Formats: sequence, C-alpha cells, structure tokens
Amino acid sequence: MIRTIAILTGGGDCPGLNAVIRAVVRSAVLERGWRVIGIEDGFDGLVGEPRWRELTLESVRGILPRGGTILGTSNRGNPLAYPVEENGVTRLVDLSKAVIDNFKRLGIDALIAVGGDGTLKIARALQERGLPMVGVPKTIDNDLRGTDVTFGYNTAVGIVTEALDRLHTTAESHHRVMVLEVMGRDAGWIALESGLAGSADVILIPEIPFDLEAVCAAIQQRKARGSRFSIVVAAEGAFPAEGRKVLQVSASENLGVERLGGVGAFVADEIARRMRVETRVVVLGHVQRGGTPSPFDRILGSRFGVKAVELIEQGRFGRMVSLQGRQVCDVDIVDAVDSLNRVEPDGDLVRSAEALGIMLGRSKPL
Ligand code: F6P
Repeated sequence: MIRTIAILTGGGDCPGLNAVIRAVVRSAVLERGWRVIGIEDGFDGLVGEPRWRELTLESVRGILPRGGTILGTSNRGNPLAYPVEENGVTRLVDLSKAVIDNFKRLGIDALIAVGGDGTLKIARALQERGLPMVGVPKTIDNDLRGTDVTFGYNTAVGIVTEALDRLHTTAESHHRVMVLEVMGRDAGWIALESGLAGSADVILIPEIPFDLEAVCAAIQQRKARGSRFSIVVAAEGAFPAEGRKVLQVSASENLGVERLGGVGAFVADEIARRMRVETRVVVLGHVQRGGTPSPFDRILGSRFGVKAVELIEQGRFGRMVSLQGRQVCDVDIVDAVDSLNRVEPDGDLVRSAEALGIMLGRSKPL
C-alpha cells in the first residue's frame, strides 16, 4: 500500500526536469491522494541528515516553463562510493545503508529517480539493497539506451540550431571559418542533428575520429565552389584520429569526472594554421542546458512523470520509463544503463548528412 513517494533529480540539469516533478506531484496527489516528498540535490540529499521538502500542488504551480530543477541536483556525489576525507586522505566509502535508513526514517514507500546513466545506476544498486524505485531518463546528450529520446535533448538541439543560424550571417560577412563547440561527451547527437538543422559544413562527433587533412580539404573544396566561409560543429567529445579527447580538467582533479572542453579551439587553430584562413571559435557550453524547455520536452517530461507514478502503483520497481515510437512504455533499468546510445557511423543520419555534402570528419564516407 503506497502512501508516500519521493522524487529526486540527479546528474547535470536539463530542460524538462520540472515538468516531470510537476506531473509526478499532480498525478500522485490528484488521482491517488499520495504524499510526495522532494529530495534535494540528488542522492546527496539522502547522505547525512536528509534534506527534503514537501511537494504539494501549490509548490509545483507555475514550474512547467522553468528550466533547471526546483529540487537542485548534483553530478558528483555517489553514495555507493562517497568521497570522505580522513587525516588529509580521501577514501571512497559505501554509504548505501545510511541512505536506505534515511529513506525508511522519512516513511517513503518508493522513490522516483530522474537522471542519466550515473543516477540510474546508483538507483538500481540501491533497489537491489532494498529501496523500491523507478527511473526516469534525462540527459541533453540523448546517450541513454532503452528510450528513443530523452527530454532536454530537443531543447538543446533547438538552442544549437539557433546559434548556427546566427553564426552563419557573421561567418558569411567576414569570410571566416566559425567553429562551434557543443556538448556531447560520448555521443554526437546534439552536434549531428543541430548541424543538420543548422546547415553546418563539417560535423565532428566522438563516434567518428576526425582527420584534419580531410576537414581542411572539405573547406577548401567549398572555397573552390565559391563559398568563402564555412561552419564547423564539434561535439566536446570529438577527437582527432591520431589523438584523444581534449580535457579541460582531469578526473583526478575533479572527483573522478573528466571535464571535456577545448576541441573547438584545437580545430579552429589547426584550420587557421594549415589553411591560412581566419577562424573563430564559439563554445556554447551550459547555455545548451539552461532556460525554458521546448514544448516537446515539456510534454515528454510530463508523460514520463505520469508513467513513473503508474509504475509505482503497479509495484513494477526497477523499471525505467521510456519513449518508443510515439508510445510511453517501460524497460528494465539494467538494459538501459549497460551501454550508451551512440550515433551509428554508418547509420541513416550520418548517411543523410554525407549525402547532403556535410563532412563528418572522415576522409572517405563509407
Ligand atoms: O551529460 C550532459 C553534459 O551536458 C555533458 O555533455 C557535459 O560534458 C557535462 O554534462 C558537463 O557537466 P558539468 O559541467 O555540469 O559537470
């Protein structure tokens, strides 16, 4: 018998999180009369003295168009390997028992964990230790398996496409090569789809290590055809065939998480040096994650929230809500987090881009 459920948002924020929170509260309260508790800052809010708040119809009023998450989030603390400093030495400690004790203390019957790969893995591990949960997938990178798409991604593609439209006019006026660096650690979805929508000339993604000679040749070819400017989109995780991903901060300096960044500047410098053309680099960064969600992401987030509450009611724990085709359904979390959803280098999307004359970084299309 369910009386009280909790919801938390973990990992990097993303437009549409508040739509999920609102939908969970509304369907739990209005249709079932349940109590809903919001855990603050992801799983961090269950470590130590719990940080939480009551979520009522009142507290979720007006949040649908708001970006970010009203609950706060964290993409660092993992309670299964929590960094604890003792005598100047940092050890990773398993705090799962303390988290589950907090959960019981608060009288929570089930948890909805909204997050990406990392958060859902933690939630799944806690479920095995006795915490009934369901997962809701989120990431602007769209790199989660088990769902056709995650909310937040559509908004990010819209923002990048608008940036590309704006870069076109200035690139054309100044006869420059503009390089736009966008998010995408392991998967190049944002770069590829916004590059298609925003008519980029070169798109560099982590799935296809790039050949700089070939990139320069493509820009040269455009010039020969009379185009005096070019637009390059580079996912932050893209890297040259002979190199590796460009790091801004290494894992050892950043609680085990590498911070990517700099591939745009690297590519722009190389093009300028090799071709003697003027280049500029723009790093869009967290602008892609902030601000109001698109209608698509508001709707998807709302549908996911409603489905998560249904799964709890049916006692179907360990499941993740998912969009397949036009239908919201559910999958086993294990299947969703065991590998990433990456762009297929010889798939239809890449093929379409190459057929349109967009250069994907490789010397010869397959
Ligand atoms: O996972 C989403 C993402 O936007 C990645 O593309 C990016 O590398 C990461 O988050 C950056 O997160 P933060 O700067 O918040 O640590």
